[in-house]
Amino acid sequence: IKTIGVLTSGGDAPGMNAAIRAVVRKAIGNGVKVKGIKKGYQGLLYEEIVDMERKDVSDTIQKGGTILGTARCPEFKQEEVQIRAAEICRKHGIDGIIVIGGDGSYRGAQALARNGVNTIGIPGTIDLDIACTDYTIGFDTAVNTAMEAIDKVRDTSSSHERCSIIEVMGRNAGYIALWCGVANGAEDILIPEKYDFNEQNIINNIIYNRKKGKTHHIIVNAEGIGHSTSMARRIEAATGMETRATILGYMQRGGSPTCKDRFYASMMGAYATDILCEGKSNRVVGYKNGEFVDFDIEEALNMQKAISEYEYIVSKMLSQ
Ligand code: F6P
Repeated sequence: IKTIGVLTSGGDAPGMNAAIRAVVRKAIGNGVKVKGIKKGYQGLLYEEIVDMERKDVSDTIQKGGTILGTARCPEFKQEEVQIRAAEICRKHGIDGIIVIGGDGSYRGAQALARNGVNTIGIPGTIDLDIACTDYTIGFDTAVNTAMEAIDKVRDTSSSHERCSIIEVMGRNAGYIALWCGVANGAEDILIPEKYDFNEQNIINNIIYNRKKGKTHHIIVNAEGIGHSTSMARRIEAATGMETRATILGYMQRGGSPTCKDRFYASMMGAYATDILCEGKSNRVVGYKNGEFVDFDIEEALNMQKAISEYEYIVSKMLSQ
């Protein structure tokens, strides 16, 4: 391996810059050249490829977003597009690519590997929904951002004796909601993995809490359930408690990464570079049981991840 490429793909996540920085500096340290590919697979197809030196990543570790830019690229599912992308890599002398992103991005990496370009994936998503790893870059910053925002909503909610439904991101996964629900002491935590669409349970909980003298009611609702605004209207009508919905949205994806995100991103970036330089391909990096590890992409994509039953039960008990 003489030259590697690095790209970020899918939704951005705080800490991606730390991963890019680690890839660039570790590769150069290993005697390998690095090219940055802008705007994910889309940028690869448009040959938006730049040389990267150590100095190009200085003053980036503390920055949110991704300095390379990112995009979702549905056309990369087509075989002829994948073949063209591999040819572009060869044209630019790129022998291997590190892809920082989520599950969808690994499919692209797998396709490139099939077409002769060595690839390694790094888990970068705020959703924590990648089964082969206990940690994904961006989750820690996102939950801290959301937690602080929910604390603020809680202040005004208590002053007005209102119920607040706060919707957090996570796509189909409830990790952000579960963590914030616990950390913010929410009265109800709604996660898609456990939600039975029985709003009556929430309504009963609010009425019960009111009788006990609680003046506020915080519901953390996961994006995978959604419909927070209409839910608020129904809850207000059924309980008589003024209810407001707040959708936190994209603020959860921005901001300066936490120490944890910077650290894990740095280690994963370095680890991915090392295994790529060793000649490994079609692998994804993970953090499991306190260690950095790597798996075959297909094996990783077939793994299942579930919300811990214990954590869910505890979250329920603590909210009463
Ligand atoms: O995967 C990260 C994420 O922010 C999800 O939580 C959310 O469902 C999705 O990306 C939003 O994607 P987009 O940026 O395409 O709107």
